[in-house]
Amino acid sequence: MFGATPTPTPTLERTRRSGPRRRSALPAPELPPRRELVRREVAADAARMRIAELVEAHGSPLLVLDTDRIATRLLALRRELPGVHLHFALGALPHPAAIRAVHAFGAGFDVASRGEITLLEREGVPLRHVVHVDPVKRVDDLTSAYLRGIRTFVVDARSEVAKFAGLPRDVAVLVRLAFPGGESGSGVSPEQAPALVAHCRRVGLRVAGFTFHLGDRQRDPAVWERAIRGSLALIRSLERRHGTRFEMLDLGGGLPLADDPAAAFHGVAARIRAALAGAPAHLRLVIAPGRFVAAPAMTLVARVVAGADRSDGRWLALDCEVHEFLPAMRHDDRRPVFAAEELGSQPLPDGATDRATRRLLTRHRVPTTLVGPANDRRDVVARDHPLPPLGVGDLVVSPGMGAYTIRATTGFDGSAVAPVVVAPR
Ligand SMILES: Cc1ncc(COP(=O)(O)O)c(C=O)c1O
Repeated sequence: MFGATPTPTPTLERTRRSGPRRRSALPAPELPPRRELVRREVAADAARMRIAELVEAHGSPLLVLDTDRIATRLLALRRELPGVHLHFALGALPHPAAIRAVHAFGAGFDVASRGEITLLEREGVPLRHVVHVDPVKRVDDLTSAYLRGIRTFVVDARSEVAKFAGLPRDVAVLVRLAFPGGESGSGVSPEQAPALVAHCRRVGLRVAGFTFHLGDRQRDPAVWERAIRGSLALIRSLERRHGTRFEMLDLGGGLPLADDPAAAFHGVAARIRAALAGAPAHLRLVIAPGRFVAAPAMTLVARVVAGADRSDGRWLALDCEVHEFLPAMRHDDRRPVFAAEELGSQPLPDGATDRATRRLLTRHRVPTTLVGPANDRRDVVARDHPLPPLGVGDLVVSPGMGAYTIRATTGFDGSAVAPVVVAPR
């Protein structure tokens, strides 16, 4: 049985006392391959979310949003980073149900656009502690955000500071820092930051603290550590110089996904904890993940609309615009796609007998190229993916599609993207 711990036998005990244990006596437990492990998990989720029923009710393609997954991710973060306030970077999954799940959990929000603020307003989320993290703002967007209740913004240049001139004094900014190894372009270096802070103070703009964003899925713990220690050193030095106290350090997003190789998330979280141990108690520490929280929360279901055997293998065209897949696929080329039948969640269509026969005859998997409806090489979603031999009408299920997927509102032909339905709880 997988994962079962063998009971030590008397023979083994004796061996241990009298000399080195002969490991060959115990065969290494055979673990199922990663795809199979993920398949079992996704199959359980698909049953819980009643994916088959949802597709029958709403058609395909369909994005199924599971808000329990959002809470689970936030819980993992709270466990790993006690004392750090969680803000969800709403741009990753700007959906009312996601907002309600984050708010019910007691986490806050970082936003970057007017649309996100409107969504928060509609859900009755108080905006006072929301951080507006876009370092490049139009003055009218800034004024609108202020009038709607946001008080904390981000600046990374003098030209941005000038835009605050017309706003009342209760507004404050975080200065955005950039560190070597962080892949996000915006921000001033810790060496340039004192001049920007001094400039803000001169023009009467309160600096509440600092922020950085290390880019997408930053898996290098050393980059996190350098950024945190660098920010804290800067804070200490400027507090001494100006005889002031800053209020906040926002670590931005860019956490590795929980299933990144070599437990990258746990390694990064441990280093963040260690680096933050030296933070002054008066500093509010915030982390603002988007992808980490959003990615596992949505599952895409699409239907095969055409199939062909070509010189380079089996090609299947899906009814799903490739642009819906792309943002998520780009960030995780190892993420599996499953046939709904592998998950036990294929609704029974007309002609089910043919399908059932085919499935019984062909339990093996074939390398399959999945493409969008344009069915050409620019529209490829996944190449050489191991799938059962599927035909027109069959469904495929792609987990982990929650992050940055519903940003694109229309496909390349102007059609609406897959509707989002919230999974029943
Ligand atoms: C300032 C800032 N914070 C947080 C995030 C969220 O990042 P991620 O989805 O990689 O966690 C972003 C994403 O672009 C960002 O620009």
